[in-house]
Amino acid sequence: MEKEAMRIRFDFSNVMSDNLGDLFGLRETVLKNYREQVTVIHHDFLRRAERGEFAFMNLPRQKEVLDEILDYTEKIAGRFESYVHLGIGGSALGPIALHAALRHPYYNELSPEQRGQAPKMYFLDNIDPDTIAAILAVVDVKKTLFSVVTKSGGTAETISEYLFFLNKLREKLGENYRENLLFITDPLRGFLHKLALEENIRTFTIDPAVGGRFSVLTPVGLFPAALSGIDVNQLLDGAAYMTKICQYEELLKNPAYLFGLINYLYYLEGRRTIVMMPYSDRLFRIADWFRQLWAESLGKQNNRANRIINAGPLPVKALGVTDQHSQVQLYMDGPNDKLFAFLEVEKFARTVSLQSPYPKAPEANYLNNKTMNELIAAEKLATEIAFTENQRPNLTFKVPEVNPFTVGQFFQIFAVAAAFTGELFDINVFNQPGVEAGKVAAYALMGRAGYEEKAAEIARKLAAKKAHVV
Ligand code: PA5
Repeated sequence: MEKEAMRIRFDFSNVMSDNLGDLFGLRETVLKNYREQVTVIHHDFLRRAERGEFAFMNLPRQKEVLDEILDYTEKIAGRFESYVHLGIGGSALGPIALHAALRHPYYNELSPEQRGQAPKMYFLDNIDPDTIAAILAVVDVKKTLFSVVTKSGGTAETISEYLFFLNKLREKLGENYRENLLFITDPLRGFLHKLALEENIRTFTIDPAVGGRFSVLTPVGLFPAALSGIDVNQLLDGAAYMTKICQYEELLKNPAYLFGLINYLYYLEGRRTIVMMPYSDRLFRIADWFRQLWAESLGKQNNRANRIINAGPLPVKALGVTDQHSQVQLYMDGPNDKLFAFLEVEKFARTVSLQSPYPKAPEANYLNNKTMNELIAAEKLATEIAFTENQRPNLTFKVPEVNPFTVGQFFQIFAVAAAFTGELFDINVFNQPGVEAGKVAAYALMGRAGYEEKAAEIARKLAAKKAHVV
């Protein structure tokens, strides 16, 4: 495979003033004015990377981790009918995005032969009791591998799921329950890490320097991908290839820096929503993964100088063409306060040909001898043209094909872009104090030891609350 031919291209023509018009378009001089700041950020990145920050950028080169995963998947090949992934946020969205992009759309309905004897794959990233309990109707616990995935090792949602399935496993397998468990967690800290040692559970570790939403290329994403037969070597190769491109110092050559800067410039102008709209079902869950990455990395109350700035563009996902019949009316005619990022697939894996037996019906005959591939391409282009004419700034990431090499590239473009955009906002991209606050409140409400004071504070507030309910 020629790597260059599989490179994701970033087309930002429709945000530039020569296409979008002077009122809302960006002039090249504006971008160039940022060159100096970009250079400063770039060199700061390099220095900090040497000190061990931005560890996610090294993940594509960590082939030993991959070898360990591949050895294990080979060892357990054919043993399990199903795989159930327990995790939330960064411990789920990446694996889900990978599975949706790179496996058959009806994967679990395929026969074991069609799946290459790989297990059916289920990802539980919520604690809705109805969904959790319902999985027992479709998997045989004895023939299921439960993977408990939590970087911190103590997230309430994931631990509660673990407890539920642990009991089921013990009921069915007695002391052999360990055989059906796998942990993916921090190698040094946390409850799950402690349990792994005490209970002797097979564990893959997550590089402690890599935060949840940046962890898709650790065992968090790599293990389920390898288990279901995704070419994880290609995935990492694609990620490595794009990491290099995203390390170009020159702004106009670096898609991650450009994407970040364009987002930032429109944000300053009051366009505070970024709509990611793949024209591909397979890439839709990448938009979901991106949503978390962007929201948790850039949504921050304080900047580094501890000044309250309440920063953060709102990432929204939409699906082409489906949302042309749902959201696009608003996107076209509603407030002009959004930036659009399309994901466009240049060559789909399959071609769907159309024939019309109605030569006299213009409503159907224009589709005769065309393909659905042409139709989706035309609809994307039509939307792009309409947006641009209506002065709605839009960008396109053009993907030659959806394959492990290109999907690997996506993860690195947006991860580097998030880190870079954080520098423009002068915020810490790698923490999530807002999420932690919710976690603490949940522990307090559930009576966890050590959270008594918080529980009392919540009880006081609830008692003082005036109810307005109809
Ligand atoms: O990006 C993050 O750090 C978070 O979204 C976490 O991934 C999420 O809260 C789950 O945490 P953990 O993997 O520790 O269970």
